[in-house]
Amino acid sequence: MWYSKSDNYTFNDDLIRVPSEVHIGGFHGGLDEKSAEEYMKKGKIPEDWWYFPIAKRSKIENLGCPTQKPEKLLERIILASTNEGDIVADFFCGSGTTLAVAEKLGRRWIGCDMSKYAIHVTRKRLLDIANSKALGIKVKDESKRPKYGFSARPFYLITIGNYLTDKLTNRKETINLILNLYGASPIKGAFKYLHGIKEKDKEIIHVEHINYPITPAEISTTIEEFKNSPFNDWTLTILGWDWAPDTFEKAKDEWEKLGINIKLLHIPPISKLQDVLKKYKIDLSKVINFEYAFDEEIRKILRFIEPGYLKLKVTQNKKYVRIEIEDFWIKLPHGYEDIEEKIRKKIESSIKEGKKYFLPLINYWAVDWDYDGKIFKHDFVSFDKKLAEGKICPIAEHTYENPGTYRVVVKVIDIFGGETSKELTIKVE
Ligand SMILES: C[S@@+](CC[C@H](N)C(=O)[O-])C[C@H]1O[C@@H](n2cnc3c(N)ncnc32)[C@H](O)[C@@H]1O
Repeated sequence: MWYSKSDNYTFNDDLIRVPSEVHIGGFHGGLDEKSAEEYMKKGKIPEDWWYFPIAKRSKIENLGCPTQKPEKLLERIILASTNEGDIVADFFCGSGTTLAVAEKLGRRWIGCDMSKYAIHVTRKRLLDIANSKALGIKVKDESKRPKYGFSARPFYLITIGNYLTDKLTNRKETINLILNLYGASPIKGAFKYLHGIKEKDKEIIHVEHINYPITPAEISTTIEEFKNSPFNDWTLTILGWDWAPDTFEKAKDEWEKLGINIKLLHIPPISKLQDVLKKYKIDLSKVINFEYAFDEEIRKILRFIEPGYLKLKVTQNKKYVRIEIEDFWIKLPHGYEDIEEKIRKKIESSIKEGKKYFLPLINYWAVDWDYDGKIFKHDFVSFDKKLAEGKICPIAEHTYENPGTYRVVVKVIDIFGGETSKELTIKVE
């Protein structure tokens, strides 16, 4: 069955024809011998029973998702009903079959899924698309189908539709919710960037906008106001969901120069916050008005953690650049204790051993060798196929073709889904 919103639709029947069945001796359905032959050669439009199994043991395609569709099936659908450059959307994308096929066939795509796991699997699949099988070409022997060989074009990952995010359109309410969760209260006085105060720890708090990454510029303005406030010998705590590349390092340079105390912390994910409010039947309006105080049990679930620490070693020889992850460190989030024992032991020992044993903490890392300031391109990616195996390569190499000054961004995704990034400037003479 297929549907169209209007009469303006695409149906490329010739791209999806299958061989016609052998005609029975002499009967050509009213066609002469020559036309019958051509008719047979052209093939027919597939009928209503399509059979495309995914090889159970195909390590490349089979992602272990119970309802995963075969790429060959989506190839037929997409070839028939779209042209190159068209937009294909799958609002229940699961493991991302539709998106991967659309990408390989030169279509633009939009995917969406309510499950974080599905998004994670899809993202990984798209980043690793070069190793998957090429589509849109006919081969005699399927086992000899070549690899696609290209990286995915840049894409955005956007989190939307969270009911709490939708409710938190009022900036002041968001600030109050986060301050309450952090155990702080609103600050009195005409401050623009200083939002809260936690007297017992001598902390002044700035809460970042929801859905926006904190930038070094934002931190500078906040520091400026903090410096001129009567609290400037206290600690300035910046709470944010997301950090623009290098914010942590740039901020650190600045506050060390100025000799002030700063703490940067991740606000717990909004989806987790939402789950807890629901589970403990907490009234959001009471939280916002400080009529409700979070207890220790909840604070343990909704913990504020420090951004990851990433140390890179960069070596350069003319146009050749080599980046090595020298050290990586994250604070273990709450809940990691529930992870399978084998993996947990690896994580714990990698943390304990410190330097050089950090690899099991990394799920994958990527480098954009020529960052345009807007969209991160995954020029280099190294994966750990299984969680915490530590089988990832900590070295990325690149040879530039042209001289110039390049912005290079390195992104590390840890096994808890956290993201730590760093920006470098590479000068090629
Ligand atoms: C059958 S799976 C899709 C499998 C996919 N065709 C593939 O090849 O991998 C359905 C997906 O829809 C998602 N889903 C279910 N209800 C949803 C909703 N209301 N909004 C967004 N996604 C939803 C599920 O999380 C699941 O990943």
